[in-house]
Amino acid sequence: MSISFTWLGHSAFAVNMDGHPVLFDPFLTNNPLAAASAEEVSAEIIFLSHAHGDHLGDTVTIARRTGARVVANFEIANWVAKQGVKDTHGQNPGGSFDHGFVVAKWTIAFHSSSFPDGTYGGQPNGFVLTSKASGQRLYFAGDTALFSDMKLIGDMGLDVAFLPIGDNFTMGPDDSLQAIRLLRPRIVVPMHYKTWPLIDQDAGTWANRVSSETDAQPIVLDPGQTYRLE
Ligand code: NI
Ligand code: MN
Repeated sequence: MSISFTWLGHSAFAVNMDGHPVLFDPFLTNNPLAAASAEEVSAEIIFLSHAHGDHLGDTVTIARRTGARVVANFEIANWVAKQGVKDTHGQNPGGSFDHGFVVAKWTIAFHSSSFPDGTYGGQPNGFVLTSKASGQRLYFAGDTALFSDMKLIGDMGLDVAFLPIGDNFTMGPDDSLQAIRLLRPRIVVPMHYKTWPLIDQDAGTWANRVSSETDAQPIVLDPGQTYRLE
């Protein structure tokens, strides 16, 4: 039993949790960095941080094809159900739920959240996933600014933190270093950068700073590259 994750570009990840395929924010169609297509990915659960198009992405298509459960905030879960997704589950900040092989806890994020057509998408979120097989814990920050309550999330004990570093719409490299010091993960993975010129960042420079200024190990993936958690 182990956890591995593959960066699909932007904030999309394919994660294998102890043999169970899950997806985070599967924005693949029109994603310039997409390392897989919506037709080929597999999922038992799709975890969605917020309603923006670059996160919601191909969720409905993938869930309809695979029968995956979609876990998102209450508003998104209802919206996705109306699109014909059979298995949806709404969670809001502070709430945990046991999804069988993984316990998901929904967290706050400082951002906005509207659907591509402009309608209200509830509040943006991050989430903490705890593997029931190994106890290993992943934190996916979603799109967010730095906030001091990241310290409380870090108190849960994190193996991996997925953090945006693109700046402009989310925290940038400087604030992400502060976030890492609050979260204290064993491993940190950058996301939400390089997709478009507006959020371009030098991940190598960022990784050097993570190594010298924090206790976390930076893991910078190329699109399509997989990392296996020890
Ligand atoms: Ni967003
Ligand atoms: Mn975004």
